Amino acid sequence: MSRTPILSVSILSADFAHLGDALHQAEEGGADWIHIDVMDGHFVPQLSMGTPIVEACRRTTKLPLDVHLMVDRPEDLIASFVQAGADSITVHVEAATHLHHCLQSIRELGVRAGVALNPATPIGAVEEALAHTDLVLIMTVDPGYAGQVLIPPALDKVHRLRDLLQATGSTVHLQVDGGINAQTAPQAVRQGADVLVAAQAIFGHPQGVAAGVRALRESLQPALA
Ligand code: DX5
Ligand code: ZN
Repeated sequence: MSRTPILSVSILSADFAHLGDALHQAEEGGADWIHIDVMDGHFVPQLSMGTPIVEACRRTTKLPLDVHLMVDRPEDLIASFVQAGADSITVHVEAATHLHHCLQSIRELGVRAGVALNPATPIGAVEEALAHTDLVLIMTVDPGYAGQVLIPPALDKVHRLRDLLQATGSTVHLQVDGGINAQTAPQAVRQGADVLVAAQAIFGHPQGVAAGVRALRESLQPALA
């Protein structure tokens, strides 16, 4: 795994009264992408944010906006999130009835197409769609909330997906999301992850958001040596 890992800061744990500050601090700390968790109250229990937040982020930062749709019928929302400023859109394989079509629709709008798998969903569920995918997101918790604890077997799944990608010569990004912190981030990178999403580890850092991003980056050094 030769790529330098990408840190995608999830604003789900940000103070929304000061979202602009949060974004600037994430930039100052060296964030690569901003991860925006969209929840519909159906696919996952909670509601979170929609296109107005993506637009607000777009006005505030030049970092790529990595939109994670935890929604039923994601195909209905793709165009509006691209219009709002998304640079990548990830849909859940469990929610996309016609996955190829969904991924192609995302790519046709000129942004990165991602597909996410819940912890209990096998890798085989996306194998046939890899050629239409720019990013595979292995959920390392059941989606829906920040601040959960990583489910250890998910790291083995990361390893198996990395093996599959290497065997097929695929260059898709392998993203992990859920319970990623200074302990689990290097483990995920060792197993082959190259994009790390984190909310609580960054927004809950005692020295602030920029320090949280830096600490996560520094935690990766032993895994990259
Ligand atoms: C929730 C979201 C995650 C969440 C991660 O399921 O998809 O992106 O923000 O939060 P942490 O890093 O706190 O587990
Ligand atoms: Zn997410």
